[in-house]
Amino acid sequence: MIKEKQLRFQIITKTTTYLFEVTESGHLKHYYYGSVLSEKDAENWEISNSVGWGCSVLYRQEDPSSSLHTTPLEWSGSGCGDYRESPIEVEGDWGVLTTDFRYQSHKIYSGEGPHRFLWPRAEGAEETLEICLSDPEIAMDLRLYWSVFGDVICRKALLINRGENTRYVRKLMSSCVDFAGEYRMLNLHGDWIREAHPEISSVGYSRIVNESLTGFSSNQHNPAFAVMTEQTNEWSGDAYGFNLIYSGNHYASLARSSANLTRIMQGISPANFRYELAPGESMETPDAVMTYSPEGLNGMSRNLHEFINSSLVPSYWRYRERPVLYNSWEGCMFDFNERKLLGLAREAKRMGCELFVLDDGWFGTRNDDTQGLGDYNVNLKKLPHGLTGLAERINRIGLQFGLWFEPEAVNENSDLYREHPDWVLQEPGRKPLQGRNEYLLDLRMECVRDYIVRSVSQVLDSANITYVKWDMNRHSNILGAGSMEYILGLYEVMHRIFDPRPEILLESCASGGNRFDLGMMTISPQIWASDNTDPMERLHTQKGLSYFYPQSTMGCHVSASPHMQTMRHSEMETRGNVAFFGALGYELDLDHASYENKKKIREQIKFYKKYQKVFQFGTFYRYDTDEDHEQWQVLDGDTSMVGVFRRLGSAAPGFEKFSIYALDPDQEYHVTTRSQTVNFSRVGGNINYLSPIRINPNGPLFFVVDQRLHITAATENRTHSGRALAGGFVPMPLFAGSGYDGNQRLVGDGGSELYVIEKTER
Ligand code: DGJ
Repeated sequence: MIKEKQLRFQIITKTTTYLFEVTESGHLKHYYYGSVLSEKDAENWEISNSVGWGCSVLYRQEDPSSSLHTTPLEWSGSGCGDYRESPIEVEGDWGVLTTDFRYQSHKIYSGEGPHRFLWPRAEGAEETLEICLSDPEIAMDLRLYWSVFGDVICRKALLINRGENTRYVRKLMSSCVDFAGEYRMLNLHGDWIREAHPEISSVGYSRIVNESLTGFSSNQHNPAFAVMTEQTNEWSGDAYGFNLIYSGNHYASLARSSANLTRIMQGISPANFRYELAPGESMETPDAVMTYSPEGLNGMSRNLHEFINSSLVPSYWRYRERPVLYNSWEGCMFDFNERKLLGLAREAKRMGCELFVLDDGWFGTRNDDTQGLGDYNVNLKKLPHGLTGLAERINRIGLQFGLWFEPEAVNENSDLYREHPDWVLQEPGRKPLQGRNEYLLDLRMECVRDYIVRSVSQVLDSANITYVKWDMNRHSNILGAGSMEYILGLYEVMHRIFDPRPEILLESCASGGNRFDLGMMTISPQIWASDNTDPMERLHTQKGLSYFYPQSTMGCHVSASPHMQTMRHSEMETRGNVAFFGALGYELDLDHASYENKKKIREQIKFYKKYQKVFQFGTFYRYDTDEDHEQWQVLDGDTSMVGVFRRLGSAAPGFEKFSIYALDPDQEYHVTTRSQTVNFSRVGGNINYLSPIRINPNGPLFFVVDQRLHITAATENRTHSGRALAGGFVPMPLFAGSGYDGNQRLVGDGGSELYVIEKTER
């Protein structure tokens, strides 16, 4: 609900209040963002400005408290006494202009406000506040918007040139706000195969910038971040979440001012940015997203997950369970034919998969990554019955069929490039650079957009395809506003292809998580989180993403061990337990998987299918753990799963104590462990304590035994109240090196356990 009284605005979400008012000088003064305020508090809440001290410049000479620098603001400008970073920079004929936007009028819309650009956005806004500001000296108007979705507020800005001269926008943020106090920031940094690693920094007097300059939202700096106090942890304390519904170069900055106000702004990156506004023209920003929870980072994540699941992803896929898929990439790379694929599909079906995805390598001369990209004509040598025939055969096996594309890029060695070298994204007079042997196509050009829509649509209509993986494997080479126009072109192309085909599950991918953002999620409900599927690495990436994105959006696959990129051995059970906390898939050569591992895969999929809704859409909780552990929980109604993951085991570990929160304290819950098996290779020479004959742990017999037999791990079986579980229960002891009678937990390095917690019938 949005309320206004004497130009004091209250934006009230399900559990929060956001409060600001128009000052006498017409600026917007921010007061409060936190738990819902009573009517009386909201009316009386005040942050009185101190008199401008020292060198401050006064906005009104007659008013000693009018220094903008010491005022917490909802928006600011430059040149009027606020010496903090400005959310807006405009250039006129004679250089950079002073900007000073003041209140003119406001309007409260039920539902969404107006839109001018084709930015992706969430659906189902409850109400929208529009505040119109103006700077008559430069003949420009600014409109600011706040829209309410559950416990999330979306903000954006619209700048209009009312004058007779062309202006150039150098910077226009989507949101800007000043919070009184001291904060820490949690953001996600990374690279290819190391996406979304959380990093926490104190926000001090020097500015922190979280920005992407690669042309995309990037694996280096995800646009999402959290702001919290020193005391905030996963379960309690103030936690603010921020994000941007945009897939290109983004920018966010945080800095504490000398007056102890923390300014937070977010929008399109201003680096190299210059956007021409002819008289009468306007520029609108993408939406910034914010939320607040007093229940720590888990509370913040809950608000953001709910927003994404219920208002952001395409309507057909909201809360719709994602199929368990098998993907051909890591198992085959470019080396496959129809026979190999059908063999894999049969095996995937036996395992319990529901969808078979043919990855890269099915078209043109695409037999490695140096050629063929752009030519979407089926390689009939590999697939003699074409995609139509392959899809039919896969369907007959009982699986849906999905297909990979990389429509934004082209190899130099391709027919498309030979025919249209001018379609490549480039600057006049400068040869574009390649990344993974490819150029990007210039999505700013209408003929390029039409080509992509036509060629992808033709393929989609040629066979029964129910899933698309939309890949993109390089950083961009276009700067500033050109990169924003590219992204607008990309959204248009994707909408034209997928809006008429809402039932196709689109999983976007950019060398893994190089474009894991809210812009993509408005079209693609699922995103491939990382090419790195090593479970120990995925603990970082999936945990990082979970702060801001729900499990349903994360493609999480089980692959082979040792892992391709880290050379690390991992337990099949742990690979499954980690991947369960997302949209599960398998990506390994099943023809090479051992009997024992296939059995585990079958059991994993059966288990996951039973609890799919809990894993994909349950409320997600992270626990505050030490560096060697992670503990994650999902909860849906009466059922909860708790994954406990261990990076390094320890000798003589002694008793452990786990707390399980988020349950009803007055209810009884049955706690058991998902039944897991441990390979003999994990216990080495200890096999001889169990075996009737002596076996050499380095001999061929051991290898044979390891492929076919296993030890069944001990399982918990107990019933406790939610209150007792929150207080902490002591599970069975860990194996401690001397004696094993089936009642010790066999965990060790990289081991994990999954606790299944179900409310009992009273
Ligand atoms: C990068 C993706 O992240 C992989 O999953 C795979 O699709 C390859 N591209 C194919 O070239």
